[in-house]
Amino acid sequence: MALSIVILAAGQGTRMKSGLPKVLHPLATKPLLEHVIDTAKTIRPQKIIVVYGHGGNLVKDKLSHTGVQWVEQAQQLGTGHAVDQAIPLIDAGDTVLVLYGDVPLTKSETLENLIGKVSKTSMGLLTVKLDNPAGYGRIVRNAKGDVERIVEQKDANADQLKINEVNTGLLAVSGAKLQDWLKRLENKNAQGEYYLTDIIAMAVSENIKVETVQAANESEVMGVNDKRQLAELERKFQREQADKLMIAGVTLADPDRIDIRGNITTGKDVSIDINVILQGKVEIGNNVSIGPNNVIRDTKIGDNVQIQANCVIEESIIGNDSRIGPFARVRPESRLAENTHIGNFVEIKKSDVGVGSKVNHLSYIGDSVIGKDVNIGAGTITCNYDGANKHQTVIGDNVFIGSDTQLVAPVKVGDGATIAAGTTITKDVPAGELAISRTPQSTRKGWKRPTKNRK
Ligand code: UD1
Ligand code: CA
Repeated sequence: MALSIVILAAGQGTRMKSGLPKVLHPLATKPLLEHVIDTAKTIRPQKIIVVYGHGGNLVKDKLSHTGVQWVEQAQQLGTGHAVDQAIPLIDAGDTVLVLYGDVPLTKSETLENLIGKVSKTSMGLLTVKLDNPAGYGRIVRNAKGDVERIVEQKDANADQLKINEVNTGLLAVSGAKLQDWLKRLENKNAQGEYYLTDIIAMAVSENIKVETVQAANESEVMGVNDKRQLAELERKFQREQADKLMIAGVTLADPDRIDIRGNITTGKDVSIDINVILQGKVEIGNNVSIGPNNVIRDTKIGDNVQIQANCVIEESIIGNDSRIGPFARVRPESRLAENTHIGNFVEIKKSDVGVGSKVNHLSYIGDSVIGKDVNIGAGTITCNYDGANKHQTVIGDNVFIGSDTQLVAPVKVGDGATIAAGTTITKDVPAGELAISRTPQSTRKGWKRPTKNRK
């Protein structure tokens, strides 16, 4: 049986009080709907169909890379009407799984359980028991405990309102049955909507058993209606990811003070201090320690690396045995080889730093290639920008650059060269030589500082 997944995402999300369609609001920087699509993909459906409405073009543009099929629901006439828009793309032989675009944390296993309930004589319904069921559709069961129907909050009587097992909205059913039942939906209810939930009573009347699946935890079925719920789910998602890291062996100083906004891989004996943000694709080797307040994005970190407090590192590669920070900024396209040291108030941009080289204090290194065992003194600046174009600085192996040097690019410094402190380099420096550009020091005997003129 082919599996088709229909994701309902046409609702406006008025309570978000935002110009952005609800399903595009980010959870860990990824749109809510994309979380749902990514989970849907893990169970390998034939098709994923997203029913969109409000902010449709923006939603389609933002998520065009997902490769899903899009169906418009121009008017939001209810969840049953929404699923009906996808019917032309569904075959009678399909199993159909319905998901919500604003319920981002459902697990693949839960969806698989739900699909497992679909047969010629049964369908699957995901329910959850809530201490406070207000607002949800209630699951009405008969004396034998079988599901009979779903009653929406606004249509429920006093007894039904006491039921605490509620409809999550997620269900799985055969395509043929769904096609037939949706045709027969009516909107004679308190909200004047075509309720998808009405197919439950139809199933029962045709002896199709409604098998319920319970979600492992509440956050799996929680939807986002306002910014408080978005923040709550963000915290739950972050805690789940922190738990995964700890299960993988990572030591976290505080699992509630790390945010992971992407995909992280870690080696053995990694420890991460508080207030660290890991974004995009971050690969961390063995025996790495990451100090407090670091922001690291799309970066590969080798083995035995120490990243001290308060660094920002983006789109870079950090070689084994290196030491970065505190207070270092490593900008995109930087490649630091093994055993490099990048110290405080150092900015590295689009540069290669060779094995064993050190840039320990107060420097800007941009568009540069630095060889092995180079020492860059405090306050060294590569002047890579002439106001119009960027130019390269190339420094050989074993170079010693004195403090407060400016290297006006394009310029090359040969292997083993030495540059005296306070030098402005404007011409290439031959290998092995000393370059010095400052004026020799002189003194004025008996020099008096100027004094203020009297009025
Ligand atoms: C729905 C269920 C209710 C369940 C609750 C769980 C129905 C009739 N009720 O109620 O039993 O307890 O979800 O959260 O199904 N949508 C569309 N087009 C529409 C209407 C809705 O795409 O015309 C989408 C929304 O964007 C949302 C989802 O369907 O993602 C659910 O819609 P919502 O209005 O939140 O349903 P509820 O009234 O909360
Ligand atoms: Ca809702």
